[in-house]
Amino acid sequence: MVWIPRTSTSMLVIVSSALLLISHAINASPAPLKFETEADTLVQKLYAKTSSTQILKEIPYKEFWQWHQVQGVYKSEVRLNFHGGLAFREFRETFNVFDNNMFATAWVTSNLLEAYKYGEGPKPTETQINLALQIENINQTRKLYANGNPMPFNVNNVDMTVGADVVIGLTYGVLSGLISSQVLDDPDVAQIYLNTSSLLAYEIANNLTSRPDLVLTYYPSINEFYWFVAKTVSAMETALKKGPLPSEVMKKVYAILKDACLGAMTKDILAKAQYEEKGKNYFDDFLGNADKDVFGKPL
Ligand SMILES: *[C@@H]1O[C@H](CO)[C@@H](O)[C@H](O)[C@H]1NC(C)=O
Ligand SMILES: *[C@@H]1O[C@H](CO)[C@@H](O)[C@H](O)[C@H]1NC(C)=O
Ligand SMILES: *[C@@H]1O[C@H](CO)[C@@H](O)[C@H](O)[C@H]1NC(C)=O
Repeated sequence: MVWIPRTSTSMLVIVSSALLLISHAINASPAPLKFETEADTLVQKLYAKTSSTQILKEIPYKEFWQWHQVQGVYKSEVRLNFHGGLAFREFRETFNVFDNNMFATAWVTSNLLEAYKYGEGPKPTETQINLALQIENINQTRKLYANGNPMPFNVNNVDMTVGADVVIGLTYGVLSGLISSQVLDDPDVAQIYLNTSSLLAYEIANNLTSRPDLVLTYYPSINEFYWFVAKTVSAMETALKKGPLPSEVMKKVYAILKDACLGAMTKDILAKAQYEEKGKNYFDDFLGNADKDVFGKPL
């Protein structure tokens, strides 16, 4: 398996801007949305479970014994995408590498913030947020470089989710004020912002050209990809309540992505929802779908 981390810089921009966007919204918005009591309990349980996996103190690598675990990250494991027969399944379940990449932690942090904003989840503590934000800094990157483990600044997997990261990073960065909107005056940046958005919309509208693996080469998760695009549109809608979007190209991107979200994406999400019982449904979109039992029957 080839696994190339998504750039931590873009993740840091996304999560820092999310923090700015959400803290503005927390101060400005009236009452948060209210869900049923049962859902509140579930959110609180999830909050406690997730928070408890944060690495509070750096854990060093011990050969054959323990992976290095960076302070501040939430537990995330890289596994091989083996599925099918029992042996493959066992290998996938047993073997894992602790994932110190910023990505999962950025994802968890924005979810915790949003659970607080929309779902009446508990307010994440300042220590928890600060620990999560200090994970990657230029000093650590330099140290890794000196040790012969350079961050792949010039190489990245290009897939739909990485494209969606670029678009959400630029949108959040500009809307939160973390990045000046002048960045979108640069013709190359504007063209990349627009072309990438067009590509995302095209793939959403065309069944991902029947290649769901294009969404993320190592862990193809369509829902996660949708989540990034929908959040991009949502941030622009929130900004539009206060006034016009700060740049012409962002207006175009808004129109393209909104259309994709309200059209093909919504249709696909509704079609894929599986209903368990009244009021409860779930989405099946990850590893292990092709697993078989000892008799070769699908699980
Ligand atoms: C990075 O290293 C410089 C020089 O050693 C130091 O002054 C600075 O505080 C460090 N920054 C962080 C965030 O660790
Ligand atoms: C973006 O799209 C335009 C128009 O189709 C095309 O001319 C240009 O080469 C594309 N730019 C990039 C960076 O892909
Ligand atoms: C959509 O893509 C899936 C593969 O993910 C394929 O099985 C299916 O036939 C495609 N549907 C259409 C209408 O092309």
